[in-house]
Amino acid sequence: MPKTYKIALLGGDGTGPEVALEGKKVADAAAEKYGFKLDWESFDWGGDRYLATGEVLPPTAADTLRQFDAILLGAIGHPDVKPGILEKGILLKLRFDLQQYINLRPVKLYPGVWTPIKDKGPEQIDFVVVRENNEGMYTGSGGFLKYGTPEEVAIQTSIQSRVGCDRALKYAFELTRRRNQDKCLTLVGKTNVLTYEYDLWERAFHEMGERDYPDIKRDYNHVDACCMWFVKNPEWYDVIVVNNMFGDIITDLGAMIQGGMGIAAGGNLNPEGVSMYEPIGGSAPKYTGMNVINPLAAIGAAGMLLEYSLGQKEAAAAIERAMMKVTNEKMKSMAAGKMGMTTTEVGDAVAQFVADGV
Ligand code: IPM
Ligand code: MG
Repeated sequence: MPKTYKIALLGGDGTGPEVALEGKKVADAAAEKYGFKLDWESFDWGGDRYLATGEVLPPTAADTLRQFDAILLGAIGHPDVKPGILEKGILLKLRFDLQQYINLRPVKLYPGVWTPIKDKGPEQIDFVVVRENNEGMYTGSGGFLKYGTPEEVAIQTSIQSRVGCDRALKYAFELTRRRNQDKCLTLVGKTNVLTYEYDLWERAFHEMGERDYPDIKRDYNHVDACCMWFVKNPEWYDVIVVNNMFGDIITDLGAMIQGGMGIAAGGNLNPEGVSMYEPIGGSAPKYTGMNVINPLAAIGAAGMLLEYSLGQKEAAAAIERAMMKVTNEKMKSMAAGKMGMTTTEVGDAVAQFVADGV
């Protein structure tokens, strides 16, 4: 009997379902090739269901998802729903309820992919961002005073716990050791202004590094300078650890230098529980149903799922090799409608290369 894993498929909104299906297609091809099975169950949670029923997410959603080995998510965000409702009610709720406290976002330029950074190639653009995923500005702590009056005040509080720092740092140090490249972990923050939150991050970073990871070099960048170096010297980075808000921002920049939202994948990880993998971009609703959206980010997310949740490292590596062959030999561009291929053709091509064992 081949080993069977239970995977939840959350297509979500816009082009999410289309790209998630290509991720599934490629993951199934890898499972077939490497001798295991994926047992998929789909959920229709997203904007259409919310508009029809008034419910963002069933109250049992997190408990249901805890029964799975991993989750593959397409995208969340619907043009007819006010921004924030679905993002907070589905995406952030699941990240929090399932305690997916790491958001792992590799920034890797594949061969044949155009980067807007002149004179830089795959040699220079290859690092990983470990974004804290449960705290900071994202907790929803805050409120209004004198709402709707001329004296109105809005407060949005960044909450960072020592436990939250420590578990993200531990993951990042361990990852830096496992990657075994420059053995350099860069803390990205704003110690010159956020003198409480980043004082805590900095102390936790150096205490842990000194105590447990003497083999790992510790570096620090202010987040604004980090944005400069992403463009000027991306080769300086190996692994970055960063709070939730800054991590959100710098990983969009990271996505651009690796070829755009069409190819940037990430994982919301609970290293002790169930993790959820997703393209880091949005639902791109204007391309819905046209078969033109780039599925590579979702395919990359499926590859990460096999690696990080199922431990199927060979299968994951095979998916990455197949993706590189498709970017290098088949696709004209990473942009929707300009790939020279349809969404399903890209998925078919990657799946075929996986099956062929390239
Ligand atoms: C991301 C997204 C989300 C975030 C939004 C949709 C809530 O931008 O995954 O980076 O801010 O985390
Ligand atoms: Mg973002």
